[in-house]
Amino acid sequence: MAAAIANQNNDLKSVLQEYQPPEWAAHLKNLPHYKVKLAQNNTEIHEWSLSGVPNGFEIGIKRDDNTGSNLSGNKVRKLEFTLAEALHQGCDTVFTLGSIYSNHCRSTAIAARRFGMTCYLFMRQRESTTDVGCLGNLLLNRLTGTHMILTEYQPYDITIYPKMNMLREKLEKENGSKVYVIPAGGSSNIAMFSYLQCFKELVDQDVLKNFTDIVVTIGSGGTASGLAIGNYLTGSHLKIHAVNIRNSVENLYQHVQEDLDHIGLSDVKAEDILDIMDGHKGLGYGLSTEEELEHLVQIACETGITLDPIYTLKSARGMLAEMKDNPCRYKGKKVLFMHTGGMFGLFEGRMNRILEKLNVTSRIRYWANGEDVPVF
Ligand SMILES: Cc1ncc(COP(=O)(O)O)c(C=O)c1O
Repeated sequence: MAAAIANQNNDLKSVLQEYQPPEWAAHLKNLPHYKVKLAQNNTEIHEWSLSGVPNGFEIGIKRDDNTGSNLSGNKVRKLEFTLAEALHQGCDTVFTLGSIYSNHCRSTAIAARRFGMTCYLFMRQRESTTDVGCLGNLLLNRLTGTHMILTEYQPYDITIYPKMNMLREKLEKENGSKVYVIPAGGSSNIAMFSYLQCFKELVDQDVLKNFTDIVVTIGSGGTASGLAIGNYLTGSHLKIHAVNIRNSVENLYQHVQEDLDHIGLSDVKAEDILDIMDGHKGLGYGLSTEEELEHLVQIACETGITLDPIYTLKSARGMLAEMKDNPCRYKGKKVLFMHTGGMFGLFEGRMNRILEKLNVTSRIRYWANGEDVPVF
């Protein structure tokens, strides 16, 4: 048995690829040594004819919703670095945390299984029940046999971290498990390199020539942090904006600052390299108004881009609101919106009622054999 485990660990280590940073990042401290391959890179950039864009502005969209199928979105790029570190350390178990809607938890659940690791998700929710059904991300968590620990909706250090420590101790003592903990949203210092690397991809895709600004959704901070640091290091003329959908602005800048400190750029101030656009959380994290959901349907019908209700819709609306009310906040008029995924949030139920209500958008007819062409 011990030999089998040792062999398995050797096989797992063979999936580790040496990480080569872009040349403009090669001098940084604490570079990751390895990554694993999980994401489909070089996601497409194309025009986005979104309605409601004020005159003069043009919008492109970077399709990071297409980094994969069940592993789609921004989280999979981060996991390439965090799971590589976990494997490198010889861990066989992964803990992570988030809300019941978390795309990061779902991506971790799937990716961990790819490498034969056992995954425990600590997820907080507003109701105290384990009767959570199997819709949206939860379906994929359950399909991959991932353990879920549901907790109160309170700050993580009250409700989750102490429980994580207790379970970790027990698993280590009783099963000899080796546990790797990935922070909420997957935003560790190492994971920042995924979007720093993605900035290189954007440069290679001529974004510097074709755009003046980038807008991204910010939740835990890692995605925006990587883009902003990449932008800073290349000395590019772009301005990076992040629409805040859940956190306090202070916490988010602190997160980016910690990333900067970690790589030896303490003299750079987070506030100088990233513009956090606040005031677009709507009713609050995970909550949607009727108007928002109708807007999501409108955008899908008009442009074929499916945003998710919790993250990317709020951020696209924030981008539009700032263009209207605060156009000078943008460096120019050519804005690239990063679509960071979240697709499975569309399948957790809240859209169904809206689609019933808006049945004018999609007409459904039963056409029996022998009947005339129905009216559309
Ligand atoms: C679909 C989607 N977009 C954007 C984000 C925000 O990314 P980050 O947590 O790196 O700030 C998240 C997660 O919070 C997400 O699930």
